[in-house]
Amino acid sequence: MAQTIAVLDFGSQLTQVIARRIRECSVYSRIYHYTTSAETLRADGVIGIILSGGPQSVYAKNAPHPDRAIFSLGVPVLGICYGVQLMGHFLGGHVAQSQAREYGHGVLTVKKPGRLFAGLPKKIRVWNSHGDKLTRLPPGFSAIGTTENSPYAAIEDARRHFYGIQFHPEVFHTERGVDVIRNFLVRICGARQDWTMRDFISRAVADIRATVGKSHVILGLSGGVDSSVAAALIHKAIGRQLTCVFVDNGLLRAGERETVVELYKKHFRIDLRVADASTIFLRRLRGVIDPEKKRKIIGRTFIEIFEKSLRSIGQADFLAQGTLYPDVIESVSIGNNPASLIKSHHNVGGLPARMKLKLLEPLRELFKDEVRAVGAALGLPREVVWRQPFPGPGLGVRIIEAVTPERLAVLRAADTILQEEMMASGWYWKVWQSFCVFVPVKTVGVFGDERNYAHVIALRIVESTDAMTADWTRLPYELLQKISGRITNEVRGISRVVFDVSSKPPATIEWE
Ligand code: XMP
Repeated sequence: MAQTIAVLDFGSQLTQVIARRIRECSVYSRIYHYTTSAETLRADGVIGIILSGGPQSVYAKNAPHPDRAIFSLGVPVLGICYGVQLMGHFLGGHVAQSQAREYGHGVLTVKKPGRLFAGLPKKIRVWNSHGDKLTRLPPGFSAIGTTENSPYAAIEDARRHFYGIQFHPEVFHTERGVDVIRNFLVRICGARQDWTMRDFISRAVADIRATVGKSHVILGLSGGVDSSVAAALIHKAIGRQLTCVFVDNGLLRAGERETVVELYKKHFRIDLRVADASTIFLRRLRGVIDPEKKRKIIGRTFIEIFEKSLRSIGQADFLAQGTLYPDVIESVSIGNNPASLIKSHHNVGGLPARMKLKLLEPLRELFKDEVRAVGAALGLPREVVWRQPFPGPGLGVRIIEAVTPERLAVLRAADTILQEEMMASGWYWKVWQSFCVFVPVKTVGVFGDERNYAHVIALRIVESTDAMTADWTRLPYELLQKISGRITNEVRGISRVVFDVSSKPPATIEWE
């Protein structure tokens, strides 16, 4: 049996981040609801337990308390934040309720490295977020780290292998946090660090088979990273029980539909249905200028076409989606918290409820870079795994004002040139997004010996880590010159190329 670390979830939004850090250490972990019995953990063969943080006070009326017997299983336990207060509360220490929250940076002074802080500096910048704090150690424990505000910021009972830390080692703001977690896993629990993305895939395949049984699954494939990886993974699990639908909305980039068909139908032999709906999309968009109106029309039409394709496929029980963890707001339902709220734009409208479809989301515990690693392990090409984001409304939001077939043709031609040059120079892989925007303003240019009164193409090339903020990329002038020269020479209908130097905010990434 694979070695398993149990992460008991007490309702912190950081629980999934703990699991992610454990995966980074090549160790398998499973998130369990805090009520899980010690018996279940024993039966699952867990080799260590991490108690997550949580928003409550251990004294609160409905405070989440675990099965007391987890402390008698004989496996190491690491309590983080709320987790350490639980240890204090359950093992005979004292926790004081506090009105003020300690929030933000602090400095941990390591008093005794022991196994938990082995190899780490004496002072570590840490991130805190807690109200209550431990005021008396439980019997058998000693303090191994302090902060300005707490003499018991890190504690251990080395004999029983119980450890507790007040700060959050899983967050990026805690220096060397992942080393603290690795020390717990390897030096304290004796984890082998042999878990890989291949193991994730095997487990996911088994889970998908168990969930789906003999039922049929449908998936809307966009060609983007998330839906592509979900499709490849589900296909590996259930083969022809999966049908993918690709909607050609007429707003795709040059060659996009062909590439998707080539890869999924021919290479992976996935049952892929292409719904050619460009005529209806373009008809409904005719003359529409307002970007919000465009988005609504495209969204509504997409659902309509998708639903129609489903009817032609026959009965399906599951709708698969490439939902990732950052799309999931709450990890589990604790107390009265709503469970698993998902950003609305990641759902295919009200489709699942209306069609009585169950959701299948095999990537919902992963972060983007992990999804890319799964995609690569499944044999998806680099172009798919490292593809730049592309908005659902496609070129519809990259043509300012009305969308017409002529403008689409011009934009596609310019965009193809940009992508060719970005790929050839290697810049495509370094930036977040690089694309062209059609600007329906005419200016005078010269083409050959003739006056050329034609439109403008704007180049939008940005760097970002999460799309929440973005900055324009300082592309070399020579490359900009080459792109601009090729577009004005090769694309009829364009007399001028401009480079967008706006950041987000105040601008957005897409123009619209
Ligand atoms: P903005 O323009 O809001 O874009 O700065 C941020 C990121 O989101 C992408 N984007 C979309 N993606 N459906 C999507 O799937 C959409 O409707 C949509 N609109 C914007 C955009 O490409 C950028 O990565």
